[in-house]
Amino acid sequence: MSLLIKNGKIYRNSSLTRKNIFIKQGKIAKITSQNLKAEKIIDAKNKIIIPGLIDSHVHFREPGATHKEDFLTGSMAAAAGGITTILDMPNTNPPTTDLQRLEEKRQLAKKSVVNYGFHFGSTDDNIADIGKAKNVASVKVYMDFTTGDLKLDDYEILKKIFTSNKTVAVHGENENIIKALELIQHSKNHLYLCHVSSKEELHYAKRQKIKNKVFVETCPHYLFLTAGDINELGNFAEMKPGLKTKEDQKALWEGIHNGKVDTIATDHAPHTKEEKMQANYPYGVPGCETMLPLLLNALNEKRIELKKIVQLCCENPAAIFKIKNKGRIKEGYDADLTIIDLDLKKEVKNENLLTKCRWSPFDSWNLKGWPVMTVVNGNVIFSNGKINNIKAKEVQYHE
Ligand code: DOR
Ligand code: ZN
Ligand code: ZN
Repeated sequence: MSLLIKNGKIYRNSSLTRKNIFIKQGKIAKITSQNLKAEKIIDAKNKIIIPGLIDSHVHFREPGATHKEDFLTGSMAAAAGGITTILDMPNTNPPTTDLQRLEEKRQLAKKSVVNYGFHFGSTDDNIADIGKAKNVASVKVYMDFTTGDLKLDDYEILKKIFTSNKTVAVHGENENIIKALELIQHSKNHLYLCHVSSKEELHYAKRQKIKNKVFVETCPHYLFLTAGDINELGNFAEMKPGLKTKEDQKALWEGIHNGKVDTIATDHAPHTKEEKMQANYPYGVPGCETMLPLLLNALNEKRIELKKIVQLCCENPAAIFKIKNKGRIKEGYDADLTIIDLDLKKEVKNENLLTKCRWSPFDSWNLKGWPVMTVVNGNVIFSNGKINNIKAKEVQYHE
């Protein structure tokens, strides 16, 4: 199949140029001013085309909690949010902590309509499998409590995991971030700090930053909500780590501008409304459908540049996790593309969401700037509010 996307303003090498994208067999074959013949033609009508977003941190809940989400519904939400690749977390039930479970998850993920990859989980006795796990983005270490039962404390065990043959992705807060930074100093591995939420954590992460070794992720909820929002949203604004102060939020925005923040990822963590309303509610909020609209709205408010959005949501995740042929619009790369309309105004509405949990802490927010079409491996997966159920692929990594 060949596809020509014409009349788009293509984001490439930090600028926008009007070109046509010729796609063949799921790859960007040519970026050209010519009108090449193709089996299918899409008129981008002067809209901006960016690389499809890579969301390095989602919880799609398979296996074990498919009443909250599954690879199909989660990936539909991702596609509607302009995300063309997701990396799924291991705190499922059972957790993805041995080779057989990794294979099982690979099978389950085949229903995904966006490309997918996996973070491998760690326990106090799976170091051999961590070493053997193939084609995973990282080994994920839970150093603080959250959904699932994967928290690790033993320093000697942590030391082994931190010196395994994988990038180490950490769920941790406060002093455990300091512990993780200490552990990575004695290792040649990279450290990916998930969901950094406070000024202090950001300060520690980058004060000790050994060049190109420690990467910082933050999430939309820390950029657009603060602890004050819990008054109105209640448990629907409770996640781990929790929302912080305006001052922390300011530091994260500064981190985005000064390069201390490396990625923005959703930490898409759906739980049902019923579960969230219980006294012992679970932590987490969904985010795949709202991350890009929130960022594009911020762009319209001149709080962030398109260049930063592409860097933090496309280029950097691909580089940090060494994902092959993604994160840029480039000949030879996979045809994962997101067409955005910066003038489109729409309200976030719970009832319109595709995530199985069908709620968002951003319900009723009016946002200007939305993805209008998402192309995955050269297939139009999301357009005009509709999903095309075409299966995507597992990502591959450079060594
Ligand atoms: O709030 C959270 N929810 N934080 C996490 O780290 C995990 C996630 C989940 O899986 O529910
Ligand atoms: Zn976490
Ligand atoms: Zn998470």
